[in-house]
Amino acid sequence: MKRIFKKKCIHEALECAENDTTLKRSIGPFGLTIMGVGGIIGAGIFIVTGVASAASGPALILSFIIAAIACTFTALCYAEFASMIPIAGSVYTYTYITMGEIWAWIMGWIMILQYLIASSAVAIGWSSYAVALVTSMGIALPAVISGPYGVGGSLINLPAALIVLILTAVLVRGAQESARVNAVIVFIKVAVILLFITVGIQFINPSNYHPFTPYGLTGVFQGAAMVFFAYLGFDAVASAAEETKNPGRTIPIGIIGSLIISSILYIAVAAVMTGMVPFNLLNNASPVSFALQHVGVQWAFTVITIGAIAGLTTVVLVNMFSKARIIFAMSRDGLLPKVFSNVKEGCQAPVTSILLVGALATIVAAFFSMDSIFELVNVGALSAFIFLALSVLILRYQKPEIKRAFKCPLVPVIPVLSIIFSISLIAQLKVNIIEIFAVWLVLGVVIYFAYGKYRGMFEAKEKLIDSEVEGYEPPLETPSSK
Ligand code: ALA
Repeated sequence: MKRIFKKKCIHEALECAENDTTLKRSIGPFGLTIMGVGGIIGAGIFIVTGVASAASGPALILSFIIAAIACTFTALCYAEFASMIPIAGSVYTYTYITMGEIWAWIMGWIMILQYLIASSAVAIGWSSYAVALVTSMGIALPAVISGPYGVGGSLINLPAALIVLILTAVLVRGAQESARVNAVIVFIKVAVILLFITVGIQFINPSNYHPFTPYGLTGVFQGAAMVFFAYLGFDAVASAAEETKNPGRTIPIGIIGSLIISSILYIAVAAVMTGMVPFNLLNNASPVSFALQHVGVQWAFTVITIGAIAGLTTVVLVNMFSKARIIFAMSRDGLLPKVFSNVKEGCQAPVTSILLVGALATIVAAFFSMDSIFELVNVGALSAFIFLALSVLILRYQKPEIKRAFKCPLVPVIPVLSIIFSISLIAQLKVNIIEIFAVWLVLGVVIYFAYGKYRGMFEAKEKLIDSEVEGYEPPLETPSSK
C-alpha cells in the first residue's frame, strides 16, 4: 500500500537526466520550436475555426487571444519543469516526483488516451483532406476503403491507416530524423497560412466585423473553449526533453517560441477570415479555403488542401512521438512491461513503444469514426495542465533550493490561474465526454492494481531466486571428487 504513494526521488531523476544516454540529445532550439509548431498547427485552424466562429462571431479573434493567454500560463509552467528535469515522460514524470506513483500512473494513463485520440482523430481528418484532393484530380477512390469507418458505407479508412504507418516508420528512425521530416512539412503549412493571410487581407470588408460580438461574452468564451484545441501540441515539446541539447535553454525556447509563432498566425488568420466572409457562412468543415473561394480566389482549394494535409501530418507525427516517450518513461519506471523501454542502437529511438503506438493508432484510425470524441483530447490535456500547475506549486514549496534553469514568473499566481482556466474549460465540455473519460480512469486504476499485483509477485519471485543464489553453499568436497 505504501508503494502506491511512493515518490520518485528528484535527485535520482536529475542524475538520470545527466547520465542516462539511452536516448540521444540531438534536437536544438530551432528544431524544437519547429517541432512545437508541427504539433500545434493542424485541425484546429483548418477545421475547428468554422464551428468556433459560429459561437463567437467576428470576435473569433478574441477567442483566440483568450485561449492563447490560458495556454501561455501553462507553457510557463511546462518551461520551468521541463528545463529543470529534462527527462522523458513530461507531466507523468513531474507527477511521479511531486505526488507519487499512483497519481503518476493516472497521469500517464490519461496522456496515453489524449495522444492516442489526437493522433488517430487527426489522421482521420488527414484522410478526408487527402481523399478530397485525389478526387479533385479526377481519381475516384472506392468509398468502402476511403472514409471514416461506418460513414458512407466505409469499412476501413485505408488512407488514415497508411499515414499512421508511414509516420511510424519515420519515428523509428529516431528523434533527429523525425525532427528533420517535421521541419520540411512545417515549412509548407506555414507558407500556406502566410499565403492565405497575404491574399485574404486584400478582400477584407469592414462591414463583416459588425456586430463584433453577436452572442456576447458567452459566445466569445465558448469559442475560446473550442479553439483551445488549436493550441494543443506545445505540451508535446516537453516530452522531447530527454532528446534536446542544452535542455535548460532549448526547452523554454521551444515551448514558448512555438506557442508565440502559432498564436500570431492564428490571430492573424482569425482577423482576416472573419473580415472576408460574414461569420454565419463560416460554419463548415474547411473554413479557410471556403473564405478564399467566397471572394473568388479559385485556386484556393488545392493550395489550402495541401497546407491542411501538411499541417495534419505533423500533428499526427508529434502526437505519436510524445505518446511513445511517455510509454517509454512509464516502462523504464517499471509501471509498464520492460520491453517498452528497449531502445534501438544507432538512432537511439524507443522502438518497441513506437511500434506499439503505431499499431494502436493504426487500428483506431482505420476502424473508428472519432468526430464525437474529439473533445476527449481537450479533457486529457486540461487534466495534464492541472497536474502540471499543482506540481510546480508543490515543488516550489518542497524543494525551493533545486536549480531551475527557467523560472515561471509570478508563482503562485500563474499556476493558480492555469488551474482556474483549465477547470473552467473542462466545465464547458459535454457530459458524455466526461463520462467516457471517467470510464477510462476507472479502467486505468483497475489495470494499475492488477499489473501492480503481478509486478509484486514477479519481484518477490526474483528476490527469492536472488536470496537462494546468495545463500548458496557449494557442497563439501568428497574424497571421490579429488
Ligand atoms: N493543435 C492540434 C491541431 O490543431 C491538435 O490539430
